[in-house]
Amino acid sequence: MSNTPQRYTITAALPYTNGPIHIGHLAGVYVPADIYARYLRMQGNDVAFVCGSDEHGVPITIKAKKEGVTPQDIVDKYDGIIRQSFENFGISFDNYSRTTAKVHHDTASAFFKKMFKDGKFIEETTKQLYDENAGQFLADRFVIGTCPKCGNQEAYGDQCESCGTSLNATDLINPKSAITGETPTLKETRHWFLPLDQYQEWLDNWIVKGHAHDWKSNVHGQVKSWLNDGLRARAVTRDLDWGIPVPVEGGEGKVLYVWFDAPIGYISSTKEWAERENKDWEPYWKDKDTKLIHFIGKDNIVFHCIIFPVMLKAHGDFILPENVPANEFLNLEGKKLSTSKNWAVWLHEYLEEFPNQQDVLRYVLTANAPEAKDNDFTWKDFQARNNNELVAIFGNFINRVMVLTNKYYSGIVPKPNNYSKIDEQTIAELKAYPAVIASSIEKYRFREAQGELMNLARLGNKYLADEEPWKLIKTDKERVKTVMYVALQIASGLATLSEPFLPFSSRKLQQMLNFTDVESKLSGQEFSQWDKIATRDSLLPAGHQIKKAELLFSKIEDSQMQEQLDKLEATKSANAASSNKLEPQKDIATFEDFTKMDIRIGTIIEAYKMPKTKKLMVIKVDTGLNKRTIVSGIAEHYKAEEIIGKKVTVLANLAPRKLRGVESEGMILMTENSAGKLIFVNPDEDGVEPGTTIN
Ligand code: MF3
Ligand code: ZN
Repeated sequence: MSNTPQRYTITAALPYTNGPIHIGHLAGVYVPADIYARYLRMQGNDVAFVCGSDEHGVPITIKAKKEGVTPQDIVDKYDGIIRQSFENFGISFDNYSRTTAKVHHDTASAFFKKMFKDGKFIEETTKQLYDENAGQFLADRFVIGTCPKCGNQEAYGDQCESCGTSLNATDLINPKSAITGETPTLKETRHWFLPLDQYQEWLDNWIVKGHAHDWKSNVHGQVKSWLNDGLRARAVTRDLDWGIPVPVEGGEGKVLYVWFDAPIGYISSTKEWAERENKDWEPYWKDKDTKLIHFIGKDNIVFHCIIFPVMLKAHGDFILPENVPANEFLNLEGKKLSTSKNWAVWLHEYLEEFPNQQDVLRYVLTANAPEAKDNDFTWKDFQARNNNELVAIFGNFINRVMVLTNKYYSGIVPKPNNYSKIDEQTIAELKAYPAVIASSIEKYRFREAQGELMNLARLGNKYLADEEPWKLIKTDKERVKTVMYVALQIASGLATLSEPFLPFSSRKLQQMLNFTDVESKLSGQEFSQWDKIATRDSLLPAGHQIKKAELLFSKIEDSQMQEQLDKLEATKSANAASSNKLEPQKDIATFEDFTKMDIRIGTIIEAYKMPKTKKLMVIKVDTGLNKRTIVSGIAEHYKAEEIIGKKVTVLANLAPRKLRGVESEGMILMTENSAGKLIFVNPDEDGVEPGTTIN
């Protein structure tokens, strides 16, 4: 355990204000960051824990367009929801700012100007993707295409979320505008580039060689693989109108790239906090002794381990991160969390539906934290962990201690007699826990740390179950005093050590044990909250009055879980329905129009996939009239073998046309099922022969 107080700047990724916070954000970033910050404060460290809303960037503009409101309306709405839900959930930010704040615009502009003045950018006119119909350049999330690295067909213009690679929009294969769906053209425009390639060697020394052992392997591994691929210059300005105006000559009509401005938001947030608290912000970002730690999700690794550090280094005034403990992703009931598909447990809804149960969610998310690999959240597991762990282990122990102390001694801590071997061993174990839990926290292993906390509660339960004070009270009153005294020390240890993980329950327990009274009696002693467990003779001295027992945790019923599962089912149905939106009825067709169409039954007699295409299948159909070739776009849905012999409905007199050099004579009628699979339209009855017409 570190006993010399130390200055820490702890950052948690600034959430985009295009939606509320969900459990994936919490498990990946905010809960671990909060555990860490709370722990450091209890160790007597000087901590600035900062965050804020990330309000620029394309997702916000897209959302505003969709809803027919301004980007400012969108960010105001979600900044409000997010801010409130973090506060109610007990995330102990020292400051939560927003990137539309003036302090941030000023800070980010000054940062850019300094780099510009020092010649850290390359200024270049290049051809960029342009949407002629929308009359706008396409970058970042305005353009979607195939990732050149992993083949993901839904990579964005700045990043592929599938493999994490950071991209330039022009790298995308088959780019399409997210605004109009059109294929973009290329148009010249002038921008400022950050020459990442010039920092390759420096990054290699600093991270790959320098942090091979203290950074998480998922983080270290990703950085290493990007450096292996070789870094290239990246534009840090954009032709957009929502963002921070480029503050130098020639920057008119352009804004800073959102990933240039957002991480500077950590600095702005620190400034805002320092101003309010009458502190100096600079040591938190400039003093070499300050430890800067970034908590993020895995999709943010490239920005926090490569781009932002290069910015900090190029700028020159700032310290670099000590560590970037990125987490993997959390899934929900086996499926990827998605804001746009509403597949999520939303924090603001949870807080309403489970009032005063913040700690249950914190507990479950930490117990299942995706620290080394993706993990799954299920409501069944949520209920089980609450009922079988928080209620049955932690809650049960505390309740026994509280009730028995009140019953036997009117709530006054009894004076112990001589310790037995078991007592001594138990107290020794209790005293070892702060160091054990601290060591896991300091390695960013929060689930392991929380597991150890529960082991301490288990120790208490086992001690009481073995000593059975409720039986002994009839035969050996003096021994019961010692047992209850030891149990009260464990309860007291739990009250302190649970604070980073279960802050609401910890406070409640501290109140039940009447901690303030203890502290005032023992004041004058120099100790950090955490360490006192190992160093003090008594955590709860004999003669101290505790309060009445209250339940720390309560059982969660099946019906509550069913409600949540029903809610998810409703989301599934809504998604299926909207992906299956009915097209409006077409213009009236006269009877004559209809009779012009020659629709008849045919049988597929041959089929093969057209080479070098993804979708096309060349199909020979016996129409009764003749055997003819029809090219059909079904190759992603069927293999050639499985459709041979199938009866199909054919529009026979459709004007022939050539597809990739093959003449197609007619069309096979298809429909689509709710899962998006193409299905043949055909009569199921037997005896319908090729050539039979439909009329
Ligand atoms: N808004 C980004 C996201 O949700 C994170 C921004 S982190 C910061 O993925 F460093 F830019 F602040
Ligand atoms: Zn990819």
